[in-house]
Amino acid sequence: MVEIQWGQPEEIRACANLAVELIGSRRGQPFIRAAVDRRQLLVARDNGDVVGCLAYRTDWFNCTFVSLVVVQPDRRRKGIARALYRALEAESPTPRLFSSAEETNVASIRMHSALGFTPSGYIDNLPQGCRELLFYKRLAGRLGGEGDRVSVLGDDGEASHV
Ligand SMILES: CC(C)(COP(=O)(O)OP(=O)(O)OC[C@H]1O[C@@H](n2cnc3c(N)ncnc32)[C@H](O)[C@@H]1OP(=O)(O)O)[C@@H](O)C(=O)NCCC(=O)NCCS
Repeated sequence: MVEIQWGQPEEIRACANLAVELIGSRRGQPFIRAAVDRRQLLVARDNGDVVGCLAYRTDWFNCTFVSLVVVQPDRRRKGIARALYRALEAESPTPRLFSSAEETNVASIRMHSALGFTPSGYIDNLPQGCRELLFYKRLAGRLGGEGDRVSVLGDDGEASHV
């Protein structure tokens, strides 16, 4: 069973390794550590192994912004990113949730659409050399909770909050 929980300091290395394909090896550890310190890193774990993570911030135009989401390559298309976003939706202090994808990242663009995001503009002039597409989702009926375990992804792929 895959569980979604807050990232712990001992998971920084594993999350940084997953994030290498997105932000490189030099930026990975400081980026993940900062998210853990802010308590804004959600980690998907299977039997203690990190299989995905989602970092976010809440100081972006007073909205919640997903700054990174990544799932272990051999665990993709099993609902792990969906469960990470669902857990974030329960924790977001604001109903305005933003996320983004490079315009060349077909999987991420499709995922945002499947998770109910709508396009919300783009950013030019980034060093990555292509546009970053922004996505928006208005959250309704959010669940709260400060517990350590924020949600559980069951064997049927459905996340439930505990
Ligand atoms: C994008 C990413 C996070 C998706 O994670 P995932 O756990 O595989 O996503 P899920 O299984 O929760 O997918 C949810 C839905 O999104 C859509 N989707 C996800 N990956 C897709 C793909 N490769 N192609 C088409 N649709 C896709 C599907 O509709 C999927 O539902 P379905 O499998 O029932 O059809 C993963 O592919 C990844 O880690 N990619 C590399 C890092 C990255 O690009 N991150 C995003 C930018 S920060």
